[in-house]
Amino acid sequence: NQHKELNIKSQVADSPVGMGTAHGKVILMGEHAVVYDYPAIALPVPAVAIRVRVTPTQHQADYLSCRYYKGPLADAPQELQNVQAAISLAQEHCAPKEQASAIHIRIDSDIPQERGMGSSAAVAVALVRALADYYGVSLTQEVLHYMVNQAEVLAHGAPSGLDTLMTSTTQPALYRKGITPQAFQMNLGGYLVIADSGQAGQTKRAVAQVAQLAQDRPDQVMKTMAAIGECTIQAQQAIRQGDLVALGRLMTYNHYYLNQLKVSTPELDSIVKSAWLAGALGAKLTGGGLGGCVIALASQAQQAEAISQAMRQAGAGRTWTMAI
Ligand code: MEV
Repeated sequence: NQHKELNIKSQVADSPVGMGTAHGKVILMGEHAVVYDYPAIALPVPAVAIRVRVTPTQHQADYLSCRYYKGPLADAPQELQNVQAAISLAQEHCAPKEQASAIHIRIDSDIPQERGMGSSAAVAVALVRALADYYGVSLTQEVLHYMVNQAEVLAHGAPSGLDTLMTSTTQPALYRKGITPQAFQMNLGGYLVIADSGQAGQTKRAVAQVAQLAQDRPDQVMKTMAAIGECTIQAQQAIRQGDLVALGRLMTYNHYYLNQLKVSTPELDSIVKSAWLAGALGAKLTGGGLGGCVIALASQAQQAEAISQAMRQAGAGRTWTMAI
């Protein structure tokens, strides 16, 4: 019996397992403008994470199983397409050509899908990491980002690369396309409340819609983009100076400009308004828009709780509060 047990243990130890993780993100300032080469400030959200586990299997057909924040992956065809793209890219890069054995991929995610929290990038990051781990391939950040960005082109159309970076690193950053991101510490003594509107965000459609608007009214849209860029630069200064009030005011301006780009919705606007009325220093939609999440800034924990309740009463489903 003891011999049998030892044998089983050694089989378990020998069978390869690949693990990969990633987390959610929110954009504090500058979404959409970042696609047009302006800077954006984004934060990792470790409270929502994704874990991928790769193991060998005998059953070729049953290669993927998922537990997602809301419902099965099949309910989000966009996400499924992204998952498959990331798997093919990672397999192509990492799997040894002679080794054609079947694998099982298990995805567990707390990141809400289609909510502007980086779910599509995070799943690709975790998948690529898990497959590389399974095949014993070490990945540089550059190669990881290159593969995830390719999967993101499918999911988002014209991604800035911000989601790829923020779901794979652990520090807030000022991000600008094509420029080395500036990571920084955030110790403002405030709170950021994130509220899921319950409405699916549509980043790909929102980015395409903004591109169309930029074609139809180039002067107006470029002025708005420049104004968002200016808000982001000022927000960076406010963060450096620890000025929560100024940061909140800039978030509110940013929401107003996102409205001009027509990516807000009446539901998002009403959650934003409820946060202002509950005493938030500022509030705005976050991510691509047309649904998704709202973020609000509070100076104290008690105020954050009141804002979170108000946002739920205004229609938000889940909320998360993080110290910033
Ligand atoms: C998506 O989280 C943010 C957008 O700016 C698109 C992008 O940066 O790829 C809307």
